[in-house]
Amino acid sequence: MSASERREPSDRVRQNRRLVIALSLSAVLLAAGVVVIGAVAGGSSGDAAGGASGAASDFADATATETPAARPSPAAPPAPAVVDTFDRTAHSIDDPTSTWVVVNKLRPLNPQDFEPDDLVDVPVEHTNEPQLRQEASDALVEMFDAAFDEAGLELASNSAYRSYSAQENVYDGDDLTTARPGYSEHQTGLTMDIGAVSGECSLDECFGDTDEGIWLRDNAWRFGFILRYPADKTAITGYSFEPWHFRYTGVGLTSKMHDTGITTLEEFFGLPPAPDYE
Ligand code: DAL
Ligand code: ZN
Repeated sequence: MSASERREPSDRVRQNRRLVIALSLSAVLLAAGVVVIGAVAGGSSGDAAGGASGAASDFADATATETPAARPSPAAPPAPAVVDTFDRTAHSIDDPTSTWVVVNKLRPLNPQDFEPDDLVDVPVEHTNEPQLRQEASDALVEMFDAAFDEAGLELASNSAYRSYSAQENVYDGDDLTTARPGYSEHQTGLTMDIGAVSGECSLDECFGDTDEGIWLRDNAWRFGFILRYPADKTAITGYSFEPWHFRYTGVGLTSKMHDTGITTLEEFFGLPPAPDYE
């Protein structure tokens, strides 16, 4: 075998080696390309993830840096509707035996000669022997006692129950100050004209300025009585100011009237004003 013959295999070997190297290089380059592509893809995906995490981070940052004042305040819960549960029909305003009966110039007692069947003598100081229905009498005694205990005031009755015939004697023709027979609250047995034991300003408008008149004005509701003819309600009640005339209706109604600031029975029960007789 000649040297050239011996070199020929060497050349082929070299060629083969070059081919192997070329193939290997290609493989390496191919692998590198995959890695690069993977890296690029990974980078994109990383950016996407980074974007998401960035957004989360932004949210977290916003949450962390937000002040309570900057956060939209939750809407205040709606105020609960005020439901008036007071039953204005719990008692009759027509029946003369009802403690809620409304008597005025348009609403005579029915029958007009009505007489209560549970009148009692009222054990209080008086100028005329007073009678009231039992329930009203009990409440009145409690009120007189409270006036003395709480304020040292001594109260007295000037007039209480008046029958139809008694009202005939009281009515003097002045419809602003006296009721016609059959139209007076005194006939219900639920009303008293109250004064001071001293007699100061008895049955006079100035009674409203006495300690006794002021105490009664402010406290009578606690015992179930109302000042029936307020100074500013003549057009509704039909009578001029009577700071001495107190009507018993029961503490449930007077408490409600006190709470609502409604001072006349006509207004409370939605009745028409009664300035005059029909
Ligand atoms: N003074 C009142 C109105 C009456 O006579 O009943
Ligand atoms: Zn009276």
